[in-house]
Amino acid sequence: MLIKRAQAHLLKEHQVTDETLYRSRRQFIKQGLSGASGLALASYLPALAQASIDSLDSRLAQAKNTFNRGPLAIEEDLNSWDEITSYNNYYELGTGKEDPKRNAAALQTSPWTVTVEGECAKPGQFNLEDILRPHPLEERIYRLRCVEAWSMVIPWVGFSLADLLRRFEPTGRAKYVAFETLYDKKNPLPGQRRRVLDWPYREGLRMDEAMHPLSFMAVGLYGKTLPNQNGAPLRLVVPWKYGFKSIKSIVKIRFTEKQPPTSWNMSGPSEYGFYSNVNPRVSHPRWSQSRERRIGELFKRETLMFNGYEEQVASLYQGMNLRKHY
Ligand code: MTE
Repeated sequence: MLIKRAQAHLLKEHQVTDETLYRSRRQFIKQGLSGASGLALASYLPALAQASIDSLDSRLAQAKNTFNRGPLAIEEDLNSWDEITSYNNYYELGTGKEDPKRNAAALQTSPWTVTVEGECAKPGQFNLEDILRPHPLEERIYRLRCVEAWSMVIPWVGFSLADLLRRFEPTGRAKYVAFETLYDKKNPLPGQRRRVLDWPYREGLRMDEAMHPLSFMAVGLYGKTLPNQNGAPLRLVVPWKYGFKSIKSIVKIRFTEKQPPTSWNMSGPSEYGFYSNVNPRVSHPRWSQSRERRIGELFKRETLMFNGYEEQVASLYQGMNLRKHY
């Protein structure tokens, strides 16, 4: 792979925990409720309690308090806000890693409509508020492993994809779910003026993958509204698959009986499969996938099967030959 009207839901300065406190709070949780960082947490909590739960920004702030525990928790250092928001793949905003941030203002995220269609009982057009309203927000700290062999650890905020999809009542014929990123032919984003990909960007999952508890819809990161370069206002996060499956700025969800066409698979079928599960044993035709560069680290680290989520997701692929490129 070569690889704003002012937003009403932006966080106010006083509602944002700065990253240092955020990291020290995590350190504090790791160390087991002791030491100076405990004080930082204690002084932070009342501020959270005051926040109203009605608006997305305060809901985001509250979600920062729901650290994952149990099987979803990962004990790896988080990448910084700057790393996560300055080194991106978002070809609609340019193919260079720094282009998406530079061109972020070209993406208008308000108003935002998501069209839901296909094999479901409750299709329709929903504005962003309708999509978000019923869902309590929570934080998920996930590894993101790009097919280009770099990775990050990102504290997303959002909600379960399964909970969203259930609201549209998919029929028994819905075997897959397809997603699309915005594409306005008359007013393309800077990167859409070139046909680097066949726009709109498209992705898809098998229904059981989409309904898996790890599949996530992100609306924020580090407790703040998702920056445009990371796929505002609504993006998919599927942590056991290569990053290109995690489609950004979603405007369409379609339930289908047949496997839907997906952008990178259409562009290079011998290099990018529909499934594209992270697999260190299956090389990309042009490079090995056995190791990865964690952004911010000096030495490469081993890539983990299913990006470290093997225990949770391996059962989805029973009977499939995982040594094959899909
Ligand atoms: N979604 C859209 N619409 N366009 C893109 O170019 N790039 C993908 C994925 N989602 C992409 C996209 C790739 S290749 C990766 S690795 C991740 O977004 C990167 O997400 P990040 O920039 O938030 O780290």
